[in-house]
Amino acid sequence: MTHAPRIFSGIQPSGGLTLGNYLGALKRFAEKQGQVETVFCLVDLHAITVWQDPERLRQQTREAAAAFLASGIDPAQSVLFVQSHVPAHTELGWMLSCVARVGWMNRMTQFKDKAGKNAEAVSLGLYAYPALMAADILAYKATHVPVGEDQKQHVELTRDIAAKFNHDYGVDFFPLPEPVIEGAATRVMSLRDGSKKMSKSDPSDASRINLTDDADTIAQKIRKARTDADPLPGSMAGLKDRPEARNLVNIHAALTGETPDAVCARFEGQGFGAFKPALAEVAVGVLSPITARMNALMADPAEIDRILLAGAERAHAIAAPIVADAREIMGMIRGAR
Ligand code: TYM
Repeated sequence: MTHAPRIFSGIQPSGGLTLGNYLGALKRFAEKQGQVETVFCLVDLHAITVWQDPERLRQQTREAAAAFLASGIDPAQSVLFVQSHVPAHTELGWMLSCVARVGWMNRMTQFKDKAGKNAEAVSLGLYAYPALMAADILAYKATHVPVGEDQKQHVELTRDIAAKFNHDYGVDFFPLPEPVIEGAATRVMSLRDGSKKMSKSDPSDASRINLTDDADTIAQKIRKARTDADPLPGSMAGLKDRPEARNLVNIHAALTGETPDAVCARFEGQGFGAFKPALAEVAVGVLSPITARMNALMADPAEIDRILLAGAERAHAIAAPIVADAREIMGMIRGAR
């Protein structure tokens, strides 16, 4: 069976969003909008797999919604909503955790990274996290999932879960969703360490650019970003062993929409003394209007809540019948709902 194309993606409101979230996700989501049906979710139930201060979680969820809107997501064109508002996610999450295998979960690198040496002490939810993520995607029969590189393994696991469900129940029910990982910034690295991903949870604020940073802070963080003393080569091939330099060139390319090779060619022979101010100017030019729109939206949280509740109704209308069918396929008596 061919499934109608539908895009689904999600972002955790577990902290302020970063330039990595913008280039790896939000900017690309906005580019997809209008081409196919797009459904975007603030995954607050994923955020609580590690403890969150309740008041801050509410604030961060609204702030993440503001980031979507400020990045160009139009609630009339896309479905934008909060995961916990739509019960289909937790319900299908349970059903799919009965399909997924423990061995599959044990291979998840994000779990291993987050659990570290203390895997016995983390929440059961952190371990089951990828089954809930599979439910997010499959409750909408989504066919395409735009994500950064770090989420590829989870989307591949979703395919495995969908295939096992279809196989075990002898149906062709769920599509096998494809990860969509495109562009120059699918893995934006830390500004302090070119071997680490830029992350909202990094203890060093200097490692990332937050979408709430003002122009001076952005320029200062780029000025202090770790680099080397060599000039830029004429193409990316010359940056093979220079991860920090490669990262800054990729960020520049993603911000301006050029290829990384074109950015190298333009700065060939110049050092970071020249490159960094140019990058800061581009970054401020792109991010400042977004930050300003976010701030304006955050001044009216009731309006954000209204947009999210309307989005949840639309999300529920898509997901509830799909999950009802999945229940029937698995052998539950159709209940009154
Ligand atoms: P999260 O909240 O960590 O990140 C949200 C999105 O931003 C991308 N991203 C990055 N891209 C490039 N460079 C970076 N440094 C960077 N950091 C983050 C992520 O790849 C992601 O696309 N498990 C997911 C949330 C989720 C989800 C889903 C995603 C829950 N359910 C269903 C897609 C579909 C997560 O923690 O993303």
